[in-house]
Amino acid sequence: MKLWAGRTGGDVDERLSAINNSIGFDSRMVRQDITGSIAHATMLGKQGIIPPADAVKIVEGLKDILSDLETGRLEIDMSCEDIHTFVEAELTRRLGDAGKKLHTARSRNDQVALDIRMYLADWIDRLTALAKDLTGAFCEVAEKHLETVMPGYTHLQRAQPVTLGHYLMAYAQMLLRDMDRLRDCKRRMLVLPLGSGALAGTTYPLDRDYVAGLLGFHGVSRNSLDGVSDRDFALELLADLSIMMMHLSRFSEEICLWCSWEFRFVTLADEFSTGSSIMPQKKNPDITELVRGKTGRVYGDLMTLLTAMKALPLAYNKDMQEDKEALFDALDTAELSLSVLAPMLRTAAFHPATMKQAAAAGFINATDCADYMVRKGIPFRDAYGVVGRLVRHCIDVGTTLEELSLDEFREYSPVFDADVYEAINLLTCVRQRRVPGGPAPEMVRKAIDETRAELQAY
Ligand code: ARG
Repeated sequence: MKLWAGRTGGDVDERLSAINNSIGFDSRMVRQDITGSIAHATMLGKQGIIPPADAVKIVEGLKDILSDLETGRLEIDMSCEDIHTFVEAELTRRLGDAGKKLHTARSRNDQVALDIRMYLADWIDRLTALAKDLTGAFCEVAEKHLETVMPGYTHLQRAQPVTLGHYLMAYAQMLLRDMDRLRDCKRRMLVLPLGSGALAGTTYPLDRDYVAGLLGFHGVSRNSLDGVSDRDFALELLADLSIMMMHLSRFSEEICLWCSWEFRFVTLADEFSTGSSIMPQKKNPDITELVRGKTGRVYGDLMTLLTAMKALPLAYNKDMQEDKEALFDALDTAELSLSVLAPMLRTAAFHPATMKQAAAAGFINATDCADYMVRKGIPFRDAYGVVGRLVRHCIDVGTTLEELSLDEFREYSPVFDADVYEAINLLTCVRQRRVPGGPAPEMVRKAIDETRAELQAY
């Protein structure tokens, strides 16, 4: 029998239940639902809206339900409409009339708005801890490769020399911004909707600030219609997770490429690699392919909720129940992706010799050669032209800049001296990029230290 059977009569068609019930997924919020109800009942008692003795019974009853669920003495009844209905029914089964007073001055509309906020805020903490660990892993590996020269790319063409440490720390910066976004999102999330009632507030003398304080919220919503119909915080989280997954997918793509025989920059540990059912030689980076692929799910989750919310009139509409599966899928996907990449990165074997070879073959020191000429007084655009002709010559005769003789250099410009070889040495090229944010080892060292200091704040 439904909660609202008084209005509609007896049992409903099972096909209605199939589309209407949300307990199959919203039971994930049981802890938050109970915690929110404890705060609500405490306030009802304090305000004398219900007898204080009943409030005490309700609070004890709710605590017992939670501990019975946790110890397995109680199971959630999956035939209930949703988790809110289950908790109230179980409380009433245990307490009788006192249990029936819990829902005074509350609607499931403001209740569910509260539960999701609490649930997502808890998850932000969880995902932030994982992002912090992954950022730490980037720092650890980067620290070992401050002088591991590799090509940096634009258009996926070898462009200028960088180091593996510098490369990895680029991803650490992205994750720091992701964590900052999550923190910001949580701040807007922790505004209490309870007290909005179904849509028009309530006639009871609630102390909303008191409830907010009990639950660690820093304020209360200012408009009851908005309080029950706002899902911005959920959309923001999905957008933030989409951006974070985009970052993880870019890193994953690098790893997929770098694992190929064409690159051979890295070999994943056996525990983090897979094989082929037919090709005995294969060792595959399924991990990073899956993170890359799962990014699409999270984008989809964002689109699901944006589309569900589009053009909804105020206030609560049942469409909004569709927020949860999308959110939960995004949370699970982000958790899985973050938690698998950290150990994969920590156990991967990078190959500095192959990276150096790749760096040596692509004329990535051509800019440095031009900069050398600039230091000898040649205007940059002229130097750029000379080095372009030098590179063409090298390609024609199958050699590299560093292998040219000084006489060959001088055929193109008299400013070349023996010190050109030092200037175009790849490690020198990297060391000279000493600008803040650049790949010079001491700058990357500084970036690692600053990143670690920032991580302390989480
Ligand atoms: N299961 C619902 C949801 O997730 C709870 C709110 C139901 N409110 C209502 N008036 N039917 O949105």
